[in-house]
Formats: sequence, C-alpha cells, structure tokens
Amino acid sequence: MKFIAFNVREDERVYFEEWSKVNNIKVDLHTEEITSDNLNSFNGYDAVIGLQTGKYPAGFFEKMKEFGIRDFSIRNVGVDNVDLQSAKDNEVTVTNVPAYSPNAIAEFAITQLMQMLRQTRVFRRKFAKQDYRWAPYISKELRALTVGVIGTGRIGRAAIDILKGFGAKIVAYDPYHNPQLEEEGVYVDTLDELYQVSDAITLHMPATEQDRHIIDAKAIAKMKDGVYIVNTARGILIDTTALIAALKSGKIAGAALDTYENETPIFNRNLQGRELQDKTFKELISLDNALVTPHIAFYTETAVENMVIISLDSAKSVVETGTAATVVKY
Ligand code: NAD
Ligand code: COI
Repeated sequence: MKFIAFNVREDERVYFEEWSKVNNIKVDLHTEEITSDNLNSFNGYDAVIGLQTGKYPAGFFEKMKEFGIRDFSIRNVGVDNVDLQSAKDNEVTVTNVPAYSPNAIAEFAITQLMQMLRQTRVFRRKFAKQDYRWAPYISKELRALTVGVIGTGRIGRAAIDILKGFGAKIVAYDPYHNPQLEEEGVYVDTLDELYQVSDAITLHMPATEQDRHIIDAKAIAKMKDGVYIVNTARGILIDTTALIAALKSGKIAGAALDTYENETPIFNRNLQGRELQDKTFKELISLDNALVTPHIAFYTETAVENMVIISLDSAKSVVETGTAATVVKY
C-alpha cells in the first residue's frame, strides 16, 4: 500500500512520518496543492491525501478512477470544495476528519469575540502612538449579552459550552436540534428570531450553495444595531460587500472573520511586498472594526496531529475494507 499527500506543511511532517513507520505504509509528501498540473503524479498510489480551501481541479476524480485509486482522504472538516457528485460518478470514496478538535475552532471564535468586545485592536493602535487614554472605548461584558449560535454541530456546541462558562445567554438556530440543547430551551425556530435578540452572532454551519450569502443586507437589517459577528465557518456564508457597508455605518459594531469568501489566493500564502489585488479584501482589512485572520481557527497542535493521523487511518481503512468511520456521504 502506498499513499500520496499534498499541501503538506513542516508542522505536519512529523505526524506523517510517525504514522508511516508505525503502519509500515509509504506516504510520499508533497508541499504543493493539488492542481491540474500534478494529477498524473497520482499514478501507482492507493490513496490521495489532501488539504486545501480552494476547489480541487476539474478531472480530479476522473484521474483517480483512471489510475484505479479508490480513496481520497482530506485532513480537514469542510467538504464544500470537493465535488462529491464527481467522486460518486468515479467510484471514489471520500473521507474527512469531522472532529479533529472542535474546541480549537470554538476557542478561537470566542477569543475573537472577546477581542472585539474589549476593543483590543483599537487599544493596540492607540498604544503604538503612546495614547494611553481609556475613553471612549468602554466595553461590554459577555455575561450581559445574548449570543446567537447558528449551527449547533460539533463546533457550535463547543462554542456554546465556552460561552456558558462566561455566563452569556445563548440562543441557537439549527434545522436539526441537539436533544440536550433542546432540553435547555436554547433553540429558536427561525433565523429572524435569532437576529432580533442577539447582541453577537457566531456562525458554525457548513457552507452549501443554498446558504451562500445567508448573511446579506436583508439579514443584517433584521439584526440589532451594534451587533457583533464572528465567522469561523466559511466565507461564502457572508456577503462581504453588505458586511463592509454595515461595519462602516455602525449597524454591525464588529466582525471577526477567520474565513473570507475569496480567501483561496490570499490565506496561507506569503504575499509580503505584493500589492493586494482584491479590492474588497483591502477595504475590509482597512476597517478598525473588522478583525480578520487567515483561516487559523483550526491551527493547534492537537488539531494538526489528529488531522494527519485520522486522515491516514481513514485512507488505510478504505483501502483495506472499502469503508471507514469518516466516510463522507455522497
Ligand atoms: P457539523 O457538521 O458538526 O455541524 C454543522 C451544524 O450546522 C449541524 O448541526 C447542521 O445541522 C447545522 N446546519 C446545517 N445547515 C444549517 C443552516 N442552514 N442553518 C443553521 N445550521 C445549519 O460541523 P462543524 O464541525 O461544527 O463545522 C462547522 C463549520 O466550521 C463548517 O463550516 C466547517 O467547514 C467550519 N470549520 C472551520 C474551521 C476553521 O479553521 N475556521 C475548521 C473546521 C471547520
Ligand atoms: C476545516 O477543517 O474544514 C477547515 O476549515 C480547516 C482548514 C485547514 C481547511
């Protein structure tokens, strides 16, 4: 058995090498992403291991079929960039790592919410200019706020646990109700109800085409004035142009974005010294009340180790048995 892995970072290498030794399976590591240029390098392998936020190239699964490869294992959660119909058509099993560390993302979401509430960005900027005054940047406390959680899956539930620790009041929206949260009475029936009562909103739902720009100008208009928004889920859930307008008008007091709808050519790339081409992104990051991070919510030691080990275990299981606990339903 032999695997090929793409977009491998230095911090992942040790886990790949350990797994390979323990399981006596060769895993060839490549630092580049999967593109149309490297599909032919799949030949001779039993599984392809991937991790990227951009779309996998056209002809990807066709190439796997041509080479008789039956497994594609991604090291991350989101499958929004994987063409599952094409995987099905080409009889390739796809696995993901659904729970490498929900806490990593939840902790980061709440960290960013706290930073916005305590206005650390403004104070850092003032501090650099030796302006050490307090007023007028007075803060709100989390226990005085109602936080709306959209999506109560693994990460949403971890975020709720953390928020409860701070004493925040929780309201949640999810088409599927978690029984324990249902018992606690946190669910509202519609997003509109959540918008009406939430002082802060955090997104923890998957990205589907159907939910593209679910947070648009119309949705924002229904929210409380001065609401805070946190998005560690996926960029396409928010209409960035509408968000920028609301951040400028003060309708939205602050937005913490770990994902951005056109992030692929920007995040996790070294663009030092280069002019940013994306005008919307440039405008967004120029705003004092936009706290933008380059898709790092997942990036902890625990998460990275689990991402590598679980994806490889899944690939091995699919190759040996035809299935794995982490198979993504087509
Ligand atoms: P999950 O599948 O465990 O939970 C998602 C929940 O969203 C489910 O309960 C589902 O019923 C609910 N949902 C589906 N459609 C919805 C809708 N229209 N409105 C409200 N809720 C809806 O997923 P998860 O592991 O909790 O991941 C949540 C999000 O976080 C995903 O978008 C994932 O891609 C993203 N993510 C981001 C990072 C990061 O580093 N920023 C890392 C991992 C995952
Ligand atoms: C995910 O696991 O879905 C993420 O968003 C993390 C990223 C490295 C793709």
